[in-house]
Amino acid sequence: MPGRGLILAIESSCDETAAAVVERGSRTLSSVVASQIATHARYGGVVPELASREHLRAIVPVVRAALSQASVTLADLDAIAVTSGPGLAGALLVGITYAKALAFANGLPLIAVNHLEGHIHAVLLNERESVPSSSPQSCHPERAKRVEGPAVDFELGDDPEPSLALVVSGGHTHLYLASPTANTWHYQLIGRTLDDAAGEAFDKVAKLLGLGYPGGPWIDALAQHGNPNAVPFAFSQIKTKLHLAGKPPRTKGARTAPIANLDPHFLFSFSGIKTAVLRYVELHNLRPEAEARREALFTGPDAPARATVEDALAACDPQTLDLIASFQHAVVGDLLKKTFAAAEALGARRILVTGGVAANRELRSRFITEAARRRVSVSFPTLALSTDNAAMIAAAAWPRLLAQDFAPANLSADPSLALGR
Ligand code: KG4
Ligand code: ZN
Repeated sequence: MPGRGLILAIESSCDETAAAVVERGSRTLSSVVASQIATHARYGGVVPELASREHLRAIVPVVRAALSQASVTLADLDAIAVTSGPGLAGALLVGITYAKALAFANGLPLIAVNHLEGHIHAVLLNERESVPSSSPQSCHPERAKRVEGPAVDFELGDDPEPSLALVVSGGHTHLYLASPTANTWHYQLIGRTLDDAAGEAFDKVAKLLGLGYPGGPWIDALAQHGNPNAVPFAFSQIKTKLHLAGKPPRTKGARTAPIANLDPHFLFSFSGIKTAVLRYVELHNLRPEAEARREALFTGPDAPARATVEDALAACDPQTLDLIASFQHAVVGDLLKKTFAAAEALGARRILVTGGVAANRELRSRFITEAARRRVSVSFPTLALSTDNAAMIAAAAWPRLLAQDFAPANLSADPSLALGR
């Protein structure tokens, strides 16, 4: 590697336009994220057409900001990396087209990165760099919590032991066995959701309870004020479905291992609990109250520009708070049970938890407690690296730059790109 190993990465798979400059896959020089939350919030979810338009608006200033904050120019770079999937086709295309143009105009190689691989490398990036305490990433007390079982020093290629990675976000709930091999990584799909992603369940439940978008952070904050055992939600064990043999999964993530090839103990399903919450809301007549809450706090003409947790708390009765706490407790419990069962079955002594839902406080604390009890290690990214960002894409691109594994000139968006087999 003749240069400094500088990669400029671009991420535009969903509702965040992000660019970052990372040195040798282990030192973040800049990480800029332009969120579109304000655009999509009034619709209670991401509107694909609006996402593409917002990416078009943001991409040039975001990339410029990433270069300038890193104090580098295009001439200093060794490669451009870009998320090629999975995600929204139009949104991905904005990033890919811009990355291609930059690479071509500057004679730089282009590296295509799978978004899910990026999330896994967010944890690894965190561990490779020691973030100074004045860094914006360290502003939250929860950042980079890590519990050690046996001491593991996980530099690229140093550790032959595979890790079990739970990628849990608004679009994905996947378990992978991630193994470093020489300069590259190998991923084996171990489990996945059959329907909704966990983050999607948080967002949908928040919406039906009249809370803001994205729903995860609201549920996280309000759950602390309710009784997690008030409503006994249960997840039944998913059975092997012989009729699904050979068929692709019926979810957006698609094109991964056929479900029938996966151990049903490591399959997730979150659409049932969403319906159970809806039934509870209807049965206890909580719906009018939820609608009033949404109208007053998040959507109505007099809605505050920025509702606070205190505002939402004041608008929730104890029964709703108990429901929120019980929903979160059940979802986290299911993620915990299946992840640790998979780790035990596969003999993985190291667990990585990543993606937007990995920001959840109950999830972090219960995973940390369980890991300590079982004497295995668990690692999370900082909060800034848990949700979508481009630093994780640059980190995942680094092994590919070393391996000279570049994208073809006709690279295009692959909305259902799979990771591993
Ligand atoms: O990784 P991400 O930014 O985008 C995707 O790739 O989907 O994840 C966004 C998801 C949303 O569903 C959001 O509600 C959820 O992560 N999320 C949370 C929390 N923060 C974000 N879910 C639970 N607790 C949180 N603190
Ligand atoms: Zn993501």
